[in-house]
Amino acid sequence: MKKITALSALFIATLLIISCSEERNQDDYSAADYELIQEELTLPQVVSDYELNLGEHFLPPGKSYPKLNIVSLAETQANNNRATLGRVLFYDKTLSLDRNVSCGTCHDPSRAFSDEEQFSEGVGDEITTRNSLALATTLSFKISYNPIDPSLSGSKFSWDDRASTLQQQVKNAFRSANEMNIDDEEIIQRIAEQSFYPVLFKKAFGDDIVDTERVAEAIASFVDAISSVHSKFDEGLEHASQFSAESDFYNFTESENKGKQLYNSNCASCHTDKHNFTVKTTGNNGLEMDYADNGVGGRLNREELFGVFKIPFLRNIELTSPYMHDGRFATLEDVVDHYSDGIVAHDNLSAELKNTNGTPRRLNLNQEDKDALVAYLKTLTDETIASDVRFTDPFRR
Ligand code: HEC
Ligand code: HEC
Repeated sequence: MKKITALSALFIATLLIISCSEERNQDDYSAADYELIQEELTLPQVVSDYELNLGEHFLPPGKSYPKLNIVSLAETQANNNRATLGRVLFYDKTLSLDRNVSCGTCHDPSRAFSDEEQFSEGVGDEITTRNSLALATTLSFKISYNPIDPSLSGSKFSWDDRASTLQQQVKNAFRSANEMNIDDEEIIQRIAEQSFYPVLFKKAFGDDIVDTERVAEAIASFVDAISSVHSKFDEGLEHASQFSAESDFYNFTESENKGKQLYNSNCASCHTDKHNFTVKTTGNNGLEMDYADNGVGGRLNREELFGVFKIPFLRNIELTSPYMHDGRFATLEDVVDHYSDGIVAHDNLSAELKNTNGTPRRLNLNQEDKDALVAYLKTLTDETIASDVRFTDPFRR
């Protein structure tokens, strides 16, 4: 009898401790607020953690990410609350002219936040003029800050490098006639129509004032948190001596290791060997002599940049077909065929893809090498991205 009483006292004490510590958690919603949110959304009661958690293997020994680490607990909580709001805004279809399109329409988690179309469908019958760029292809866009050589930082956004910040890219997507086609005033009005936003804005920014700077800030916090670090490649790199991408990886097949070698000697000069930082931000890879879309050069009206496009990160590349700015290649095999046999002598062809005499450096691979390169590219897939509940659509509707 005595024993039972002691046990139950212990049990009650434990319950008390748990409930007290829950009450003290700054990240929780009040019961009334949470009930309100849950009518339309399925958000976790304890705010998710959106802090980047990157392994050391992405850096040479002894280096750290000076500008990236979110230091204080308050800052971490603020970022988590902003990203939570950003997650809701990202999937909110009412924030488009016809209430049918959200960021998530063209940036779908099951496709590493791109879509399967050559060109994406925006509001009305409008389609985009370029292939949707995936969002989970990087460790995080924050990582385009390169701590080893800061002068190499600053990969920009869009195939033609149009936006220099994520916030700007978000605003462009809202305004663009073939994406969401909605102006600032209308965005604020559509947010005001929905009962759960005051709670989320208040948690994210301290009060419930809604403006498009805050909207862009919140979505940027969310998009920045979509990190992709759980691939077969990452596991191999983590176990490699000196964290070097050069030597064979223990967990790779012979073909994957061969593909890695081919990749490191022919592709890494532009696309990076560890898939961490930007090596080179833009280039021309000789798709054709006369581009219908001239990319960076078309935007700036500069002939010496015609046919120059953003060099995309290749994480999750298996999931983001079709490929290139115009989605011209349906498969990775087609892409590898291009680099093997198809590169043309465009005036602006990047030096990395030229022989010393200036002709296109076609790799002329045999079938086994082509298969190896494709096998390697598939090791960059992070299977956890699609199902990570921090990143999925929270709307019940
Ligand atoms: C109708 C489809 C569509 C919608 C809706 C859309 N996007 Fe995009 N997104 C694209 C396409 C297409 C590109 C490539 C655009 C280009 O290069 O011109 C892109 C590019 C991007 C990029 C650049 C990635 C990089 O590596 O440079 C980011 C970031 C992005 N979108 C985020 C968003 C966000 C956030 C929203 C919602 C506010 C959004 N997009 C809405 C289709 C869409
Ligand atoms: C000059 C630097 C450069 C080199 C070297 C290079 N690429 Fe690329 N790569 C680019 C550019 C630029 C693009 C985008 C071109 C476009 O869309 O017009 C691209 C696009 C791609 C894409 C499509 C990405 C997407 O999201 O659609 C893949 C896949 C790719 N490259 C793989 C490779 C492989 C494999 C190699 C080595 C055999 C390689 N690249 C070598 C510059 C390079």
